[in-house]
Amino acid sequence: MSDFPIRPKDVFDEIRKSVVGQDDAIREISVALVKHLVGHPAPNMLMIGNSGSGKTTLMRAVEYFLANHGELREFANIVRMNANVLAEERQGYGRAVLGRLYANARKMLGPDATPDAIVRGVERGIVFIDEVDKIRSIVSGAPNVRGIVAQEALLTLMENENVEFEADGWSFVINSSHILFVAGGAFEELYESVLRRATIGQDVTPMKPVVVVSSSGEVREELPFHLGDYLKYDDLFRYGMTPQFISRFESIVVLNDLAEGDLARIFVEPEQSIFRTSREYFKRFGIDLQITRGALVAIAWDAARQKRVGARALRETYRRVIRALEFEPTAGGTLTIDEEMVKRAIAARDGGGAQAHRRTGS
Ligand SMILES: Nc1ncnc2c1ncn2[C@@H]1O[C@H](COP(=O)(O)OP(=O)(O)OP(=O)(O)O)[C@@H](O)[C@H]1O
Ligand SMILES: [Mg+2]
Repeated sequence: MSDFPIRPKDVFDEIRKSVVGQDDAIREISVALVKHLVGHPAPNMLMIGNSGSGKTTLMRAVEYFLANHGELREFANIVRMNANVLAEERQGYGRAVLGRLYANARKMLGPDATPDAIVRGVERGIVFIDEVDKIRSIVSGAPNVRGIVAQEALLTLMENENVEFEADGWSFVINSSHILFVAGGAFEELYESVLRRATIGQDVTPMKPVVVVSSSGEVREELPFHLGDYLKYDDLFRYGMTPQFISRFESIVVLNDLAEGDLARIFVEPEQSIFRTSREYFKRFGIDLQITRGALVAIAWDAARQKRVGARALRETYRRVIRALEFEPTAGGTLTIDEEMVKRAIAARDGGGAQAHRRTGS
């Protein structure tokens, strides 16, 4: 199919505008997507990444990409669902997934679509399963029925070629072998358990801490541990993902933890970034909102210190800086957020809630 309009690089370039610091994952998903779109076998993909590292953002970016490319419309049957939804027993055997793909295909193809066309639309589907780490089959050593049901439901679709399915009074047989599955999850304790294995297990060279100097001058020691370098299927089995299920994901990608520089870019660059959105708000009052380089660095530095929330920390930090100004936007002119303002907001929080309220009039 030499005339297929899209190459992996095109997908990559576009998604990269909204997803920062996850080039490997974007590359992988771009290739999988193009393979799938041209009808080539595409590897199911599992994305593992800490909370707030961009898994859902990446899935959304792929959805937007397809939605914005009219020429791909006939291939663009894409659904995103939380893994939890699959735990509803009455919808077992993947019917929740097929039902969504079916509804989408119907909508895309219009009222005159033949059942055959709809079936083809479903069989070409792309399914994003978010929060897949929430469907463990074992939790704290005990079986977790909801997790087992959900994994089985997905497995039914991933391993069977022909799945029966009913909708609108029709009965269909869906060949689900070409549906592309992309799952994502934070797998919280996985990080610790693999780190433990890597630092005190037998199969490792001990890690030496490295000294990291942040852009604001803070010095700290960190272990150069990247989950992806050590992760084995076995770790995921132990986490509670059944071998039959997890081995259907041929491609496992570990997202990066976002560094300060990435966080600064996330704060300003994407189309819907926190800063751009905030600028829009102030524009309504005739105010041109600006931010100094120092302020940006300080916000990113503060967000990077918050553990376990990734880029979400940016919002919390920024709220502290901007709250009072949003309440009383003085009309007209330029409003510049500077480093001093950010540092004061951070200090108020770090020093306790009482001071945080005093900051208002500045
Ligand atoms: N790599 C990234 N590039 C751009 N924005 C990001 C990135 N990571 C996180 N964000 C921002 O942070 C917010 C949270 O990110 P997202 O929802 O993608 O996290 P997640 O990895 O799905 O986390 P969780 O495991 O908690 O669901 C998003 O609103 C997005 O704006
Ligand atoms: Mg998410």
